[in-house]
Amino acid sequence: MDILEIIEKKTRGEELSKAEIEYAVMGYVNKYIADYQMSVLLEAIRINGMSDKEIVDLTDVMLNSGEKIELGFDNVDKHSTGGVGDKTTIVLAPLIASLDVNIAKMSGRGLGHTGGTIDKLEAIEGFKTDMKLEQLKKQVEKIGVALVGQMGNLCPADKKIYALRDVTGTVKSIPLIASSIMSKKLASGASKIVIDLKVGSGALMETMEEAKELARIMVKIGHLNGKETICVLTDMNQPLGYAVGNSLEVLEAIETLKGNGPKDLNELVINLGSLMLSLDKHLPIEEAIEYVENALKNGTGYEKFKELVKYQHGNIDKIPVSSNLIEVKAKKEGYIKSIDALKIGELARKLGAGRLTKEDVIDHEVGFVLHKKVSDKVEKEESLITIYYNDKKVDEQEVLNCFEIVDGVVAKPTLIYDIIK
Ligand code: URA
Repeated sequence: MDILEIIEKKTRGEELSKAEIEYAVMGYVNKYIADYQMSVLLEAIRINGMSDKEIVDLTDVMLNSGEKIELGFDNVDKHSTGGVGDKTTIVLAPLIASLDVNIAKMSGRGLGHTGGTIDKLEAIEGFKTDMKLEQLKKQVEKIGVALVGQMGNLCPADKKIYALRDVTGTVKSIPLIASSIMSKKLASGASKIVIDLKVGSGALMETMEEAKELARIMVKIGHLNGKETICVLTDMNQPLGYAVGNSLEVLEAIETLKGNGPKDLNELVINLGSLMLSLDKHLPIEEAIEYVENALKNGTGYEKFKELVKYQHGNIDKIPVSSNLIEVKAKKEGYIKSIDALKIGELARKLGAGRLTKEDVIDHEVGFVLHKKVSDKVEKEESLITIYYNDKKVDEQEVLNCFEIVDGVVAKPTLIYDIIK
């Protein structure tokens, strides 16, 4: 086989065989195919797409490129395709574990303008996110929940290809996203999978049409591998909740677990959580919703979160935020038409909440707290957003430009667009 023939075949838009996909992917992992050759193949895939068979084969090749974890107990995995202000896992994992569902969740770090759960959890002083597999199993058997970084040598092909995609403009490709996410979910021992597929200006999928296509193929891959898989298509045209930035998001997650969460985050947690619970316990969805709502109201989810933090050596009383604040105020009255989630994510990264290079050290104390969401009324000189900063600064005008204010009333945006299973 020859990598040039494979590249030319995909460039012509033809279907690759599983053997050809395996040759290219494993050749790249084993370093006899170069970055520049893989980049061209990825670009050909991004432009010409892949058939369902090719995507299923690509997922299988990536899944089998490394270790596969056997957890030895039933569990439900939740995955988000990434957004701004997305602290959902930090709320959902302990909440659903408090309802007797095993959650052994492996999360990632921030990527591009989107934050990562592991970076957020490390805002809690002392919180350890690396753990051996045996330790993880013991913790889940004992308290029902563990939140850790990627462990073992899972999907090395995805690790390498993802890093290359990140620097070659080939992240936004349905076949590449579907195989990347599903290979990791299948390798990490998930029994059942719920995916929060973000749609909108702050997400990888900007239109409903492409989001539905990504959902369809991920559900198909899950089913072909014998795993019940559900995709929930949710809005990412504005940040989720009010807080953006690591400590600030953890504090908002805690408030949500105490029953005082922002409306959109609360709604998302109830929707995703009830699906996870009904999948695990085979409950009618209405009954599952009731259980989740009660666990939020009576604080059992929060008690489980405290237990989780203690088990992972964190100090819940030490989640420092910066004391350097700037209020950004509206220059006119009106209604909030839009809040640019992508830009807010990029500005948070500039403040130090995310990385601009792989070597950057995150400043957990910085970020933003919004005071207004889309459709809210705002008065002239009323505060729109607070900037929490330390040594890195952002231009206030740039922050202000993220808000579009119009004269006429704006309808409340939809949060949950569709559920695909
Ligand atoms: N998340 C992943 O794990 N992979 C992608 O390709 C996109 C989002």
